[in-house]
Amino acid sequence: MGKAYEIVEHQYDVVVVGAGGAGLRATFGMAEKGLRTACITKVFPTRSHTVAAQGGISAALGNMGDDDWRWHMYDTVKGADWLGDQDAIEYMCKEAIPAIIELEHHGVPFSRTPEGKIYQRAFGGMTTNYGEGIAQRTCAAADRTGHAILHTLYQQSLRHNAEFFVEYFAIDLLVEDGEVLGVIAWNLDDGTIHRFRAHQTVLATGGYGRIYFSCTGAHTQTGDGNAMALRAGVPCQDMEFVQFHPTGIYGAGCLITEGVRGEGGYLTNSEGERFMERYAPSAKDLASRDVVSRSMTLEIREGRGVGPDADHIFLHIEHLDPEAIAKRLPGISETARIFAGVDVTKDPMPVLPTCHYNMGGVPTNYRGEAVTKRNGDADAVVPGLMAIGEAACVSVHGANRLGSNSLLDLVVFGRAAADRCAETITPGERHRPLKNGADDPALDRLDRMRHADGGTTTAAARLEMQKVMQSNCAVFRDGDILGEGVARMREVWALRGDLKVADRSMIWNTDLVETLEFDNLIYQALVTIVSAANREESRGAHAREDFPERDDENWMKHTISWCDEAGDVTIDYRPVHMNTLTNDVAPIPPKERVY
Ligand code: FUM
Repeated sequence: MGKAYEIVEHQYDVVVVGAGGAGLRATFGMAEKGLRTACITKVFPTRSHTVAAQGGISAALGNMGDDDWRWHMYDTVKGADWLGDQDAIEYMCKEAIPAIIELEHHGVPFSRTPEGKIYQRAFGGMTTNYGEGIAQRTCAAADRTGHAILHTLYQQSLRHNAEFFVEYFAIDLLVEDGEVLGVIAWNLDDGTIHRFRAHQTVLATGGYGRIYFSCTGAHTQTGDGNAMALRAGVPCQDMEFVQFHPTGIYGAGCLITEGVRGEGGYLTNSEGERFMERYAPSAKDLASRDVVSRSMTLEIREGRGVGPDADHIFLHIEHLDPEAIAKRLPGISETARIFAGVDVTKDPMPVLPTCHYNMGGVPTNYRGEAVTKRNGDADAVVPGLMAIGEAACVSVHGANRLGSNSLLDLVVFGRAAADRCAETITPGERHRPLKNGADDPALDRLDRMRHADGGTTTAAARLEMQKVMQSNCAVFRDGDILGEGVARMREVWALRGDLKVADRSMIWNTDLVETLEFDNLIYQALVTIVSAANREESRGAHAREDFPERDDENWMKHTISWCDEAGDVTIDYRPVHMNTLTNDVAPIPPKERVY
């Protein structure tokens, strides 16, 4: 079937798939180092989901009080609930400082202190002196930090002559004998099919939040790269760890930044009580997200939610100076007005924990190289494949990511991937010839979906998947509910064989795009819920009511999961790296959780 499509061939040193913060930081870094670099993206680069990141990017600059990258590292290890790899966390927290200064020099319009330094606000879980005080570590451009960073990185990429393939949908990786040799993509605009050869293919395709019904992420967040990796036989890691952001707007899901609480906002229940003081007496509203989301859910469950159905919580900033709100939080003021009909200077915002971030993804080392477990080696590099940003599991976020460590992860590991490619690739190096039929698996899959003629619309199958995730794999989990969710998800998986695509054309066929995206999502939904049912402990964002304790003896290990075409999920484990990268800091041993 695949042979029916004409293929346009391109040869690059590196191909980056995705043009969010990680993809663009890698793209421009590679182009800057003289590598012939292509960036393929299904949306215009500045419409990538990073544009919606609000509160900021962490780095121990110390502009607003004492700070130290070691304190940042301690907070990140603790926030990750000891599932993060400490070598990678050390690298990220240390490199944060030069990476942010670089961003400033590249032109990111950060907000400023009266002395002209980068403005930094408090965020959940970010402390001084190993948990003693509250750190102001999150560098902000008002509450539109992602927007500011994304535009700057795109400009830098153009400046360094990176080549963009915009509105190209990546279908699948080209793989031979376990080596990734490039990617097959569909040009949505004119319907042509393209083969991109590359010495490294870098997945920067973001998260897969859209497996859930309510999500702060864009509708484009379908984890295309993770699914391509799974189909290529590369595992995903720690997929059971899904972060719920405490403050999505009730009913709409749009993000209200944690920066609101960093600027002095607080949560209340139906009794007007600032309940976080009970759950986290020291960090209160700035406890880490898993803790705040669980506390809010408990308040609602116990009948203290607000609104006619007692099913959400109030977030207040009406006590803050309106001028400060206009200066520091203009974006969320607009979002709250449009999506909740609330004037934030007068009334509280209705909020609810909402799916926000996937800690899991393609396992990588701190250089961005994809790794797998092979012949007893748990850190075996997958030749030709890298992953960065939310698509990757480095793992710096472990079981729970701290707010503002995501934008940081994007730029630090986008930069690291560029450095690694410059070390390992000679510009212009020849590509080895492909075997006959190398493109067929990707094109057969495309063709199968394009001509799908069953009885289920893609929208109906997607909705069913999202409902299962929302009801069976949310903030609190338990074995019976997860088991039922796995069974229901297998029924959704079976719908893959009964899909109906009405439009058979190749030009801007959104029906087909959504079907390819659904297929990507369902792979990840299945491995997520199976991995969640498998992990019998509570850690970070994975809160099992039937196993309420963290169990370091049995479960301080990464889950890696494969999913085959039949929907059979295989699970194995990789050890957590408890070692640091250098002698600049000692490993941080596991501690009890105290807030
Ligand atoms: O709340 C926020 O502004 C989100 C930040 C993040 O997820 O890092």
